[in-house]
Amino acid sequence: MRRTVIIGTGSYAPDNIISNDDIAKLVDTSDEWISSRTGIKERRISSKDTTTDMAYEAAKAAIKNADINPEDIDLIICATITPDYFMPSAACMVQGRLKVDGAAAFDLNAACTGFVYALVTASQFIETGMYNKALVIGVDAISKILDWEDRSTCVLFGDGAGAVVLSASEAGDNKGIITSILSSDGSKHSILQCEALPISNPYVVPAAQSMQDMGFNKKSSVIRMEGQEVFKYAVRNVSALIKEAILRADLRAEDISCIISHQANSRIIEAVAKNCNIPSSKFFMNLDRYGNTSSASIGIALDEASRAGSLSKGDKVILVGFGGGMTSGAVVLDWS
Ligand code: UT7
Repeated sequence: MRRTVIIGTGSYAPDNIISNDDIAKLVDTSDEWISSRTGIKERRISSKDTTTDMAYEAAKAAIKNADINPEDIDLIICATITPDYFMPSAACMVQGRLKVDGAAAFDLNAACTGFVYALVTASQFIETGMYNKALVIGVDAISKILDWEDRSTCVLFGDGAGAVVLSASEAGDNKGIITSILSSDGSKHSILQCEALPISNPYVVPAAQSMQDMGFNKKSSVIRMEGQEVFKYAVRNVSALIKEAILRADLRAEDISCIISHQANSRIIEAVAKNCNIPSSKFFMNLDRYGNTSSASIGIALDEASRAGSLSKGDKVILVGFGGGMTSGAVVLDWS
């Protein structure tokens, strides 16, 4: 059977660095509170880069790293909850800029698990033989949907994009994705959410002059979160997923060289490491510099881990995420 191999990684983050002290000028918080509760020191906040800009830059870097021509790509999946347009999709916007004629392109929303969902989705097309080369992007300009007056959320997030190029493994080669798991629990949707537009048309309210007249409250299109509930969901589900993924891959915990988790909170990662009896040193972390970049975080971390030489050929690597939905997912890879 064909397997899916990651042949290139790339990432991009805006150059505007916002420290915890900078955020403390906006809301009643402190570097001490943010660092000790989350591990976050700074994040990148876009002052000009759009979602498409960031996705395009990460994609370009991944394609260069894979050493292929953009025209070789036949599928683009973009995981995002903050596209520039309801339509066209961010994936189509990137396809147009890359001039990848004819490739299938669509977006996918699994919130912070988006990168894992997109990777697994693309791998199904590759494993069936429908496509040979896929570009997977996780991107969020999450700063667009933050309530910058809510200290319980605005301190946590940052903007960015991560991307990978996927290809089919050579015949008989055991590299690439060994196993994957996707999961969701919609009954917990309200613990982490951001409302979209409300129903509004001439049959609901009298024809309106402005969004305000329509009762559209800008404040509703921002992230609302029950932090402790999300924390508990994350620790429970990510721990269970890692254990299940290791079993399904027919491996032991000690065979795993590196775990690249969604970068939300160092305390979540440390609790998961303890539950799984895996040293926390095996969990790659860069959330101190980026905060939680939502759909982008695993892609950015994977690119940094790869470029830092933290991944060697034959390493067994786990990518694992959780996010709004609630969603969660994991992939076990033989790194090539
Ligand atoms: O991609 C998924 C995204 N979300 C997550 O992963 C979030 C998961 N949850 C968490 O990471 C943690 O729950 C938080 C970091 C969000 C919060 O940490 P916590 O230890 O659960 O704090 P808390 O919500 O229990 O709040 C403790 C106190 C409260 O004050 P009182 O009621 O004890 O007086 C909050 O009002 O901290 C206060 N607080 C803050 N203080 C200073 C909340 N946010 C801040 C802040 N600065 N930024």
